[in-house]
Amino acid sequence: MKLAQSEYAQRRQQLMQRMAENSIAIVPTAKACVRNSDVEHLFRQDSDFYYLSGFAEANACLVLIPGREDGEYIVFCEDKDPAMEIWTGRRAGPDGAARDFFADQAYPIEAIDSILPELIEGKSKIYTAMGANTEFDSQLTHWVNQVKGMVRKGAQVPHEYSGLDYLLHEMRLIKSAAEIEIMQKAADISAAAHCRAMTTAKPGCFEYQLEAELLHEFTRNGSRWPAYPSIVGGGDNACILHYTNNDQEIKDGSLVLIDAGCELDYYAADITRTFPVNGTFSAEQKALYELVLKSQLAAIEQVKPGNSWNAPHETAVQVLVEGLLELGLLNGDAQQIIEDESYRTFYMHRTGHWLGMDVHDVGGYRVNKQWRPLEPGMVLTVEPGLYVAPDCEEVDERWRGIGIRIEDDVVVTEHGCHVLTHKVPKTVTEIEALMKSASELN
Ligand code: GLY
Ligand code: MN
Ligand code: MN
Repeated sequence: MKLAQSEYAQRRQQLMQRMAENSIAIVPTAKACVRNSDVEHLFRQDSDFYYLSGFAEANACLVLIPGREDGEYIVFCEDKDPAMEIWTGRRAGPDGAARDFFADQAYPIEAIDSILPELIEGKSKIYTAMGANTEFDSQLTHWVNQVKGMVRKGAQVPHEYSGLDYLLHEMRLIKSAAEIEIMQKAADISAAAHCRAMTTAKPGCFEYQLEAELLHEFTRNGSRWPAYPSIVGGGDNACILHYTNNDQEIKDGSLVLIDAGCELDYYAADITRTFPVNGTFSAEQKALYELVLKSQLAAIEQVKPGNSWNAPHETAVQVLVEGLLELGLLNGDAQQIIEDESYRTFYMHRTGHWLGMDVHDVGGYRVNKQWRPLEPGMVLTVEPGLYVAPDCEEVDERWRGIGIRIEDDVVVTEHGCHVLTHKVPKTVTEIEALMKSASELN
Protein backbone atom coordinates (compact mmCIF):
# COMPACT_ATOMS: atom_id res chain seq x y z
CA MET A 1 0.00 0.00 0.00
CA LYS A 2 3.08 2.23 0.07
CA LEU A 3 3.17 5.09 -2.43
CA ALA A 4 5.09 4.53 -5.66
CA GLN A 5 8.50 6.24 -5.91
CA SER A 6 7.13 8.07 -8.96
CA GLU A 7 4.70 9.95 -6.69
CA TYR A 8 7.58 11.25 -4.56
CA ALA A 9 9.40 12.27 -7.74
CA GLN A 10 6.31 14.16 -8.93
CA ARG A 11 6.09 16.00 -5.61
CA ARG A 12 9.73 17.08 -5.87
CA GLN A 13 9.11 18.33 -9.40
CA GLN A 14 5.99 20.18 -8.32
CA LEU A 15 7.85 21.82 -5.43
CA MET A 16 10.78 22.80 -7.63
CA GLN A 17 8.40 24.40 -10.13
CA ARG A 18 7.09 26.58 -7.31
CA MET A 19 10.52 27.58 -6.00
CA ALA A 20 12.11 30.87 -7.03
CA GLU A 21 14.76 31.00 -9.73
CA ASN A 22 18.29 30.23 -8.57
CA SER A 23 17.21 28.79 -5.24
CA ILE A 24 17.93 25.77 -3.05
CA ALA A 25 15.74 23.86 -0.59
CA ILE A 26 17.30 21.96 2.30
CA VAL A 27 15.26 19.49 4.37
CA PRO A 28 16.69 17.57 7.34
CA THR A 29 15.22 14.40 8.85
CA ALA A 30 13.58 14.23 12.25
CA LYS A 31 15.99 13.78 15.13
CA ALA A 32 16.22 10.52 17.00
CA CYS A 33 15.06 11.17 20.59
CA VAL A 34 16.53 9.58 23.69
CA ARG A 35 13.93 7.89 25.88
CA ASN A 36 16.35 7.20 28.70
CA SER A 37 19.91 6.00 29.10
CA ASP A 38 20.99 4.59 25.72
CA VAL A 39 17.44 3.73 24.57
CA GLU A 40 15.74 5.83 21.95
CA HIS A 41 12.06 6.39 21.21
CA LEU A 42 10.94 4.61 18.05
CA PHE A 43 12.06 6.79 15.18
CA ARG A 44 9.37 8.36 13.03
CA GLN A 45 10.53 10.33 10.01
CA ASP A 46 9.71 14.03 9.69
CA SER A 47 6.55 14.32 7.58
CA ASP A 48 7.95 16.93 5.16
CA PHE A 49 11.09 14.87 4.60
CA TYR A 50 9.09 11.71 4.03
CA TYR A 51 6.60 13.50 1.77
CA LEU A 52 9.44 14.42 -0.55
CA SER A 53 11.47 11.24 -0.37
CA GLY A 54 9.73 8.17 1.06
CA PHE A 55 13.04 7.70 2.93
CA ALA A 56 12.54 6.61 6.54
CA GLU A 57 16.11 6.67 7.96
CA ALA A 58 17.34 9.17 10.54
CA ASN A 59 20.44 11.34 10.19
CA ALA A 60 19.95 12.33 6.56
CA CYS A 61 19.30 15.53 4.63
CA LEU A 62 17.78 16.17 1.22
CA VAL A 63 18.55 19.05 -1.07
CA LEU A 64 16.61 20.29 -4.10
CA ILE A 65 18.18 22.62 -6.62
CA PRO A 66 15.84 23.28 -9.56
CA GLY A 67 17.65 23.38 -12.89
CA ARG A 68 21.01 22.10 -11.60
CA GLU A 69 22.69 20.30 -14.46
CA ASP A 70 24.56 17.78 -12.32
CA GLY A 71 21.32 16.75 -10.64
CA GLU A 72 18.45 18.50 -8.94
CA TYR A 73 17.92 16.02 -6.09
CA ILE A 74 20.81 15.39 -3.72
CA VAL A 75 20.65 13.14 -0.66
CA PHE A 76 23.06 12.91 2.27
CA CYS A 77 22.54 9.78 4.38
CA GLU A 78 24.34 7.35 6.65
CA ASP A 79 26.91 5.28 4.85
CA LYS A 80 26.70 1.51 4.76
CA ASP A 81 28.39 -0.02 7.83
CA PRO A 82 27.98 -3.80 8.13
CA ALA A 83 29.18 -3.87 11.75
CA MET A 84 26.69 -1.18 12.86
CA GLU A 85 23.89 -2.59 10.73
CA ILE A 86 24.03 -5.79 12.81
CA TRP A 87 22.93 -3.67 15.80
CA THR A 88 20.69 -1.01 14.36
CA GLY A 89 19.32 -2.40 11.12
CA ARG A 90 19.87 -2.07 7.40
CA ARG A 91 20.78 1.22 5.80
CA ALA A 92 20.23 2.23 2.20
CA GLY A 93 23.58 4.01 2.03
CA PRO A 94 24.23 6.54 -0.73
CA ASP A 95 24.07 3.84 -3.42
CA GLY A 96 20.68 2.70 -2.17
CA ALA A 97 19.45 6.31 -1.99
CA ALA A 98 20.31 6.72 -5.66
CA ARG A 99 19.08 3.32 -6.79
CA ASP A 100 15.90 2.89 -4.74
CA PHE A 101 14.96 6.48 -3.91
CA PHE A 102 15.90 8.12 -7.21
CA ALA A 103 18.47 10.59 -5.81
CA ASP A 104 20.44 12.17 -8.66
CA GLN A 105 23.45 12.30 -6.36
CA ALA A 106 23.93 10.79 -2.92
CA TYR A 107 26.73 11.19 -0.39
CA PRO A 108 27.57 9.97 3.12
CA ILE A 109 26.18 12.37 5.72
CA GLU A 110 29.75 13.04 6.95
CA ALA A 111 30.42 14.85 3.65
CA ILE A 112 27.67 17.40 4.17
CA ASP A 113 29.84 20.10 5.78
CA SER A 114 32.18 20.14 2.80
CA ILE A 115 29.64 19.74 0.00
CA LEU A 116 26.67 21.81 1.13
CA PRO A 117 28.48 25.20 1.23
CA GLU A 118 29.43 24.54 -2.42
CA LEU A 119 25.80 23.88 -3.28
CA ILE A 120 24.64 27.01 -1.44
CA GLU A 121 27.26 29.26 -3.04
CA GLY A 122 25.86 31.35 -5.89
CA LYS A 123 22.20 30.76 -4.97
CA SER A 124 19.98 33.77 -4.26
CA LYS A 125 17.48 32.12 -2.00
CA ILE A 126 17.43 29.31 0.57
CA TYR A 127 14.22 27.50 1.51
CA THR A 128 14.19 25.71 4.88
CA ALA A 129 11.82 25.10 7.75
CA MET A 130 13.49 27.80 9.85
CA GLY A 131 12.91 27.48 13.58
CA ALA A 132 11.71 23.88 13.52
CA ASN A 133 15.06 22.33 14.45
CA THR A 134 17.53 24.58 16.24
CA GLU A 135 20.43 22.21 15.70
CA PHE A 136 19.81 22.31 11.95
CA ASP A 137 19.41 26.12 12.02
CA SER A 138 22.87 26.48 13.53
CA GLN A 139 24.32 24.01 10.99
CA LEU A 140 22.81 26.13 8.23
CA THR A 141 24.31 29.28 9.73
CA HIS A 142 27.64 27.49 9.76
CA TRP A 143 27.36 26.52 6.06
CA VAL A 144 26.33 30.03 5.03
CA ASN A 145 29.21 31.47 7.07
CA GLN A 146 31.58 29.18 5.22
CA VAL A 147 30.33 30.74 1.95
CA LYS A 148 30.68 34.23 3.46
CA GLY A 149 34.27 33.40 4.28
CA MET A 150 34.95 32.98 0.56
CA VAL A 151 33.38 36.26 -0.61
CA ARG A 152 36.71 37.89 -1.48
CA LYS A 153 37.45 34.91 -3.68
CA GLY A 154 34.27 35.78 -5.58
CA ALA A 155 31.75 33.59 -3.73
CA GLN A 156 28.14 34.80 -3.78
CA VAL A 157 26.12 34.50 -0.61
CA PRO A 158 22.34 33.88 -0.65
CA HIS A 159 20.50 37.00 0.44
CA GLU A 160 16.98 35.65 0.87
CA TYR A 161 15.64 33.04 3.26
CA SER A 162 12.17 31.62 3.00
CA GLY A 163 10.13 29.14 5.00
CA LEU A 164 9.66 26.00 2.96
CA ASP A 165 6.49 25.30 4.89
CA TYR A 166 4.21 27.52 2.89
CA LEU A 167 4.97 25.94 -0.52
CA LEU A 168 5.15 22.41 0.78
CA HIS A 169 2.20 22.52 3.12
CA GLU A 170 -0.14 23.84 0.47
CA MET A 171 0.86 20.78 -1.57
CA ARG A 172 0.34 18.42 1.38
CA LEU A 173 -3.12 19.89 1.97
CA ILE A 174 -4.52 18.47 -1.29
CA LYS A 175 -4.35 14.69 -1.24
CA SER A 176 -3.86 12.57 -4.38
CA ALA A 177 -5.96 9.50 -5.19
CA ALA A 178 -3.13 7.27 -3.91
CA GLU A 179 -2.96 9.18 -0.63
CA ILE A 180 -6.74 8.93 -0.18
CA GLU A 181 -6.50 5.19 -0.76
CA ILE A 182 -4.03 4.85 2.12
CA MET A 183 -6.12 7.13 4.32
CA GLN A 184 -9.17 4.99 3.56
CA LYS A 185 -7.25 1.91 4.69
CA ALA A 186 -6.07 3.70 7.87
CA ALA A 187 -9.70 4.69 8.48
CA ASP A 188 -10.94 1.12 7.94
CA ILE A 189 -8.39 -0.33 10.37
CA SER A 190 -9.23 2.33 12.94
CA ALA A 191 -12.95 1.72 12.45
CA ALA A 192 -12.44 -2.00 13.10
CA ALA A 193 -10.47 -1.09 16.23
CA HIS A 194 -13.32 1.05 17.56
CA CYS A 195 -15.81 -1.76 16.87
CA ARG A 196 -13.53 -4.18 18.69
CA ALA A 197 -13.34 -1.88 21.73
CA MET A 198 -17.13 -1.43 21.74
CA THR A 199 -17.73 -5.16 21.58
CA THR A 200 -15.28 -6.03 24.36
CA ALA A 201 -16.22 -3.27 26.82
CA LYS A 202 -18.13 -4.23 29.92
CA PRO A 203 -18.76 -2.58 33.28
CA GLY A 204 -15.71 -2.90 35.52
CA CYS A 205 -13.18 -3.13 32.71
CA PHE A 206 -10.21 -0.77 32.77
CA GLU A 207 -9.56 1.97 30.25
CA TYR A 208 -6.19 0.44 29.34
CA GLN A 209 -7.89 -2.84 28.49
CA LEU A 210 -9.88 -1.09 25.77
CA GLU A 211 -6.70 0.68 24.65
CA ALA A 212 -5.12 -2.76 24.29
CA GLU A 213 -7.97 -3.85 21.99
CA LEU A 214 -7.36 -0.79 19.80
CA LEU A 215 -3.62 -1.39 19.59
CA HIS A 216 -4.14 -5.06 18.81
CA GLU A 217 -6.37 -4.24 15.86
CA PHE A 218 -4.03 -1.49 14.60
CA THR A 219 -0.93 -3.64 14.76
CA ARG A 220 -2.34 -6.84 13.37
CA ASN A 221 -3.36 -4.88 10.29
CA GLY A 222 0.06 -3.46 9.60
CA SER A 223 -0.02 -0.14 11.41
CA ARG A 224 3.20 0.34 13.35
CA TRP A 225 1.87 2.91 15.80
CA PRO A 226 -1.14 5.05 16.62
CA ALA A 227 -1.34 8.44 14.90
CA TYR A 228 -1.47 10.06 18.38
CA PRO A 229 -1.78 8.78 21.95
CA SER A 230 -5.13 6.99 22.28
CA ILE A 231 -7.72 8.61 24.54
CA VAL A 232 -9.88 6.15 26.46
CA GLY A 233 -11.90 8.08 29.03
CA GLY A 234 -14.60 6.46 31.12
CA GLY A 235 -17.18 8.53 33.05
CA ASP A 236 -15.87 11.95 34.15
CA ASN A 237 -12.60 11.33 32.28
CA ALA A 238 -14.47 11.84 29.01
CA CYS A 239 -14.62 15.54 29.96
CA ILE A 240 -10.79 15.84 29.82
CA LEU A 241 -10.20 16.62 26.17
CA HIS A 242 -6.70 15.15 25.83
CA TYR A 243 -6.97 12.50 28.57
CA THR A 244 -4.30 9.83 28.07
CA ASN A 245 -3.78 8.28 31.51
CA ASN A 246 -6.22 5.51 30.55
CA ASP A 247 -5.72 3.79 33.90
CA GLN A 248 -9.15 3.88 35.57
CA GLU A 249 -11.89 1.34 36.01
CA ILE A 250 -15.02 2.09 33.97
CA LYS A 251 -18.03 1.88 36.23
CA ASP A 252 -21.44 0.51 35.25
CA GLY A 253 -23.65 3.30 33.90
CA SER A 254 -20.72 5.34 32.53
CA LEU A 255 -20.08 6.47 29.01
CA VAL A 256 -16.70 5.71 27.44
CA LEU A 257 -15.13 8.21 25.05
CA ILE A 258 -12.51 6.71 22.75
CA ASP A 259 -10.52 9.00 20.49
CA ALA A 260 -8.03 6.83 18.61
CA GLY A 261 -6.70 6.28 15.12
CA CYS A 262 -3.83 4.39 13.59
CA GLU A 263 -1.05 5.69 11.40
CA LEU A 264 -0.63 3.63 8.26
CA ASP A 265 2.30 4.26 5.94
CA TYR A 266 2.62 7.79 7.33
CA TYR A 267 -1.09 8.69 7.09
CA ALA A 268 -3.33 9.23 10.10
CA ALA A 269 -6.87 8.33 10.98
CA ASP A 270 -8.61 10.18 13.81
CA ILE A 271 -11.90 8.75 15.09
CA THR A 272 -13.92 9.38 18.23
CA ARG A 273 -16.86 7.38 19.40
CA THR A 274 -18.70 7.54 22.72
CA PHE A 275 -20.76 4.63 24.02
CA PRO A 276 -22.28 3.31 27.27
CA VAL A 277 -20.02 0.72 28.88
CA ASN A 278 -23.05 -1.43 29.74
CA GLY A 279 -24.46 -1.24 26.22
CA THR A 280 -27.50 0.97 26.95
CA PHE A 281 -27.62 4.79 27.00
CA SER A 282 -29.41 6.41 29.96
CA ALA A 283 -32.05 9.06 29.14
CA GLU A 284 -29.63 11.96 29.77
CA GLN A 285 -26.75 10.30 27.94
CA LYS A 286 -29.03 9.62 25.00
CA ALA A 287 -30.40 13.17 24.88
CA LEU A 288 -26.92 14.72 24.78
CA TYR A 289 -25.57 12.04 22.46
CA GLU A 290 -28.33 12.58 19.92
CA LEU A 291 -27.74 16.30 20.04
CA VAL A 292 -24.01 15.88 19.32
CA LEU A 293 -24.85 13.45 16.51
CA LYS A 294 -27.38 15.86 15.01
CA SER A 295 -24.75 18.63 15.05
CA GLN A 296 -22.14 16.32 13.52
CA LEU A 297 -24.40 15.20 10.67
CA ALA A 298 -25.37 18.82 9.97
CA ALA A 299 -21.69 19.83 10.00
CA ILE A 300 -20.76 17.03 7.57
CA GLU A 301 -23.48 18.31 5.20
CA GLN A 302 -21.47 21.52 5.01
CA VAL A 303 -18.36 19.78 3.71
CA LYS A 304 -18.41 20.49 -0.01
CA PRO A 305 -16.25 22.37 -2.50
CA GLY A 306 -16.62 26.13 -2.29
CA ASN A 307 -18.01 26.13 1.24
CA SER A 308 -15.92 27.96 3.82
CA TRP A 309 -13.59 25.96 6.08
CA ASN A 310 -15.58 27.42 8.97
CA ALA A 311 -19.05 26.42 7.73
CA PRO A 312 -19.08 23.00 9.48
CA HIS A 313 -18.04 24.65 12.77
CA GLU A 314 -20.66 27.39 12.52
CA THR A 315 -23.35 24.82 11.77
CA ALA A 316 -22.30 22.54 14.61
CA VAL A 317 -22.34 25.42 17.09
CA GLN A 318 -25.78 26.55 15.91
CA VAL A 319 -27.29 23.06 16.31
CA LEU A 320 -25.62 22.49 19.70
CA VAL A 321 -26.75 25.82 21.12
CA GLU A 322 -30.35 25.34 19.98
CA GLY A 323 -30.36 21.81 21.45
CA LEU A 324 -28.84 22.90 24.76
CA LEU A 325 -31.51 25.61 25.04
CA GLU A 326 -34.23 23.02 24.40
CA LEU A 327 -32.81 20.68 27.03
CA GLY A 328 -32.46 23.54 29.53
CA LEU A 329 -28.67 23.39 29.89
CA LEU A 330 -28.45 26.90 28.46
CA ASN A 331 -30.85 29.79 28.90
CA GLY A 332 -31.27 32.91 26.80
CA ASP A 333 -31.12 33.83 23.15
CA ALA A 334 -29.32 31.49 20.71
CA GLN A 335 -27.67 34.25 18.66
CA GLN A 336 -26.51 36.06 21.79
CA ILE A 337 -25.04 32.84 23.21
CA ILE A 338 -23.20 32.21 19.93
CA GLU A 339 -21.89 35.78 19.83
CA ASP A 340 -20.64 35.87 23.40
CA GLU A 341 -19.47 32.24 23.12
CA SER A 342 -21.02 31.28 26.45
CA TYR A 343 -21.72 27.85 24.92
CA ARG A 344 -18.01 27.22 25.47
CA THR A 345 -18.81 25.99 29.00
CA PHE A 346 -19.97 22.81 27.21
CA TYR A 347 -18.21 23.00 23.83
CA MET A 348 -14.75 24.53 24.10
CA HIS A 349 -12.95 23.24 21.00
CA ARG A 350 -13.36 23.70 17.30
CA THR A 351 -15.20 21.27 15.05
CA GLY A 352 -12.21 19.94 13.13
CA HIS A 353 -8.76 20.23 11.65
CA TRP A 354 -6.92 19.13 8.52
CA LEU A 355 -5.88 15.47 8.54
CA GLY A 356 -3.08 13.81 6.61
CA MET A 357 0.44 12.70 7.44
CA ASP A 358 0.07 14.56 10.74
CA VAL A 359 -3.07 14.16 12.80
CA HIS A 360 -3.31 17.94 13.05
CA ASP A 361 -2.14 18.29 9.50
CA VAL A 362 -0.47 21.20 7.77
CA GLY A 363 -2.01 23.81 5.49
CA GLY A 364 -3.44 27.23 6.25
CA TYR A 365 -6.99 27.67 7.47
CA ARG A 366 -7.26 31.24 6.19
CA VAL A 367 -6.26 32.84 2.91
CA ASN A 368 -6.05 36.63 2.78
CA LYS A 369 -7.48 36.73 6.28
CA GLN A 370 -10.65 34.87 5.17
CA TRP A 371 -11.50 31.27 6.07
CA ARG A 372 -10.44 29.36 2.98
CA PRO A 373 -12.92 27.58 0.71
CA LEU A 374 -12.93 23.79 0.77
CA GLU A 375 -11.49 22.06 -2.32
CA PRO A 376 -11.60 18.47 -3.58
CA GLY A 377 -8.78 16.42 -2.08
CA MET A 378 -8.75 18.20 1.28
CA VAL A 379 -9.28 15.89 4.25
CA LEU A 380 -10.64 17.17 7.53
CA THR A 381 -12.15 15.87 10.73
CA VAL A 382 -15.66 16.75 11.87
CA GLU A 383 -15.75 16.32 15.63
CA PRO A 384 -18.28 18.26 17.68
CA GLY A 385 -18.74 17.35 21.32
CA LEU A 386 -20.41 18.30 24.58
CA TYR A 387 -18.68 18.11 27.95
CA VAL A 388 -20.56 18.76 31.19
CA ALA A 389 -17.90 18.99 33.87
CA PRO A 390 -18.57 16.82 36.95
CA ASP A 391 -18.58 19.97 39.12
CA CYS A 392 -20.68 22.12 36.76
CA GLU A 393 -23.11 23.76 39.16
CA GLU A 394 -24.95 25.63 36.42
CA VAL A 395 -26.89 22.53 35.38
CA ASP A 396 -29.03 19.91 37.04
CA GLU A 397 -26.97 17.16 38.67
CA ARG A 398 -28.24 14.47 36.28
CA TRP A 399 -26.29 16.02 33.38
CA ARG A 400 -22.96 16.28 35.17
CA GLY A 401 -19.95 14.21 34.20
CA ILE A 402 -21.24 13.42 30.72
CA GLY A 403 -18.61 13.89 28.00
CA ILE A 404 -19.41 13.08 24.38
CA ARG A 405 -17.51 13.57 21.12
CA ILE A 406 -18.25 12.05 17.72
CA GLU A 407 -15.45 12.38 15.19
CA ASP A 408 -15.20 11.28 11.58
CA ASP A 409 -12.63 11.84 8.82
CA VAL A 410 -14.07 13.40 5.72
CA VAL A 411 -12.58 13.94 2.26
CA VAL A 412 -13.90 16.73 0.06
CA THR A 413 -14.96 15.32 -3.32
CA GLU A 414 -15.96 17.00 -6.61
CA HIS A 415 -19.56 17.46 -5.53
CA GLY A 416 -19.64 16.99 -1.77
CA CYS A 417 -17.76 14.71 0.55
CA HIS A 418 -17.05 11.13 1.50
CA VAL A 419 -16.84 9.98 5.12
CA LEU A 420 -13.77 7.76 5.28
CA THR A 421 -14.67 6.47 8.75
CA HIS A 422 -18.27 5.48 8.04
CA LYS A 423 -17.71 1.88 9.11
CA VAL A 424 -17.99 2.59 12.86
CA PRO A 425 -21.58 2.72 14.07
CA LYS A 426 -22.69 6.05 15.45
CA THR A 427 -26.45 6.16 15.98
CA VAL A 428 -27.77 5.11 19.39
CA THR A 429 -29.62 2.19 17.77
CA GLU A 430 -26.57 0.97 15.85
CA ILE A 431 -24.25 1.19 18.87
CA GLU A 432 -26.69 -0.53 21.21
CA ALA A 433 -27.34 -3.27 18.62
CA LEU A 434 -23.62 -3.94 18.08
CA MET A 435 -22.95 -4.12 21.82
CA LYS A 436 -25.99 -6.34 22.40
CA SER A 437 -24.98 -8.78 19.68
CA ALA A 438 -21.49 -8.99 21.19
CA SER A 439 -22.79 -9.59 24.72
CA GLU A 440 -25.07 -12.36 23.45
CA LEU A 441 -22.07 -14.11 21.92
CA ASN A 442 -20.03 -13.91 25.13
N1 GLY B 1 -7.22 13.19 18.44
C1 GLY B 1 -6.95 14.54 18.50
C2 GLY B 1 -7.99 15.32 17.86
O1 GLY B 1 -9.07 14.82 17.65
O2 GLY B 1 -7.78 16.43 17.47
MN1 MN C 1 -9.33 15.28 15.61
MN1 MN D 1 -9.47 12.73 17.62
